[in-house]
Amino acid sequence: MSWRKGSNLTWLRGLAGVRQGEALATRTSFGIGGPAEYFVEMANPQAIQVVLDGCRLRGIPYLLLGAGTNLLIADTGIEGLVVRVVNRDHEVAGTRIRAGAGLKMMRLARIAADANLRGFEFAIGVPGSVGGAVYQNAGCWGKELSQVLVEVRGFQPGADARTWSLNDLQLGYRTSALRDGPLHGSLVIDATIQLERGDGEEAKRLMTKLSNERNETQPIKTKNCGSVFKNPPGDSAGRLIQAAGLKGARQGAAVISALHGNFIINQGGATAADVAGLIEHARAEVIRRFGVELEPEVELVGKWK
Ligand code: EPU
Repeated sequence: MSWRKGSNLTWLRGLAGVRQGEALATRTSFGIGGPAEYFVEMANPQAIQVVLDGCRLRGIPYLLLGAGTNLLIADTGIEGLVVRVVNRDHEVAGTRIRAGAGLKMMRLARIAADANLRGFEFAIGVPGSVGGAVYQNAGCWGKELSQVLVEVRGFQPGADARTWSLNDLQLGYRTSALRDGPLHGSLVIDATIQLERGDGEEAKRLMTKLSNERNETQPIKTKNCGSVFKNPPGDSAGRLIQAAGLKGARQGAAVISALHGNFIINQGGATAADVAGLIEHARAEVIRRFGVELEPEVELVGKWK
């Protein structure tokens, strides 16, 4: 591979805090995936910018990792550099909160309630980080980040940091310009949300109620990646998978949840190939039975054959 020149490897090995062959499975909610060839955890956006600029100039592939939800990392791992983004700072100003990309959405939901702000309770059902939530416009219970998002700061490698408006971000159902458009490969530094003044205790009660409901309908205590497929327009992937008789279907230690058809559970030691096989099986069966083509929400990353 052309980028694996001595000078590039020397540069990678010289990065502060870099680790070689770092296991990633423990850094994903699925608990699956091979190692990162090179791995570094970084909180400072300026420092991340220097590293990503270096990768771009040198042609070194990189992957930005947040909370590791919604990801299926290949068994052979990830080529190049994985940067785990861990800036978790936040700042409440009136009814707005600016939150670092590495902060968990669930934590931010509690921060909002503690500040007596309402309108972010849905985030208690979003397992990922703020950066990941922007990346795919995460949501729950019919609400999504775009409804409260004001702006996002970030940068494209090779360019200065800037503020992206909602227009720039092209947010749609589980999509954005970062995931599927011109901003792909960019780093989210932080996101600003606009909420409403309200009773924080009421917000907490609502979050408890919603979490309990979610606990009854989704296998949230298992190793999983969240929803495997996006819902097709006007229908539910979980309903279709159930109707196709696929609940409980298994490949290796990966099994389609009996509780919710749109979840695949790693029962312990499942490989990425097991999960990918099960995803393909469900996709093919739903097409065969109902003529509906399900689109994965989970992102397959790394070195697949
Ligand atoms: N259903 C079935 N069988 C199943 C699962 C669901 O018949 O196995 C039916 C339910 O009875 C219900 C309908 O399908 O009538 C919708 O199910 P549910 O309310 O569980 O919501 P969902 O559409 O499957 C979406 C999001 C979830 C989010 C929930 C709750 C997607 C792909 N999924 O699920 O988001 O937590 O609503 O708001 O948009 C995620 O994106 O990772 C995620 C978990």
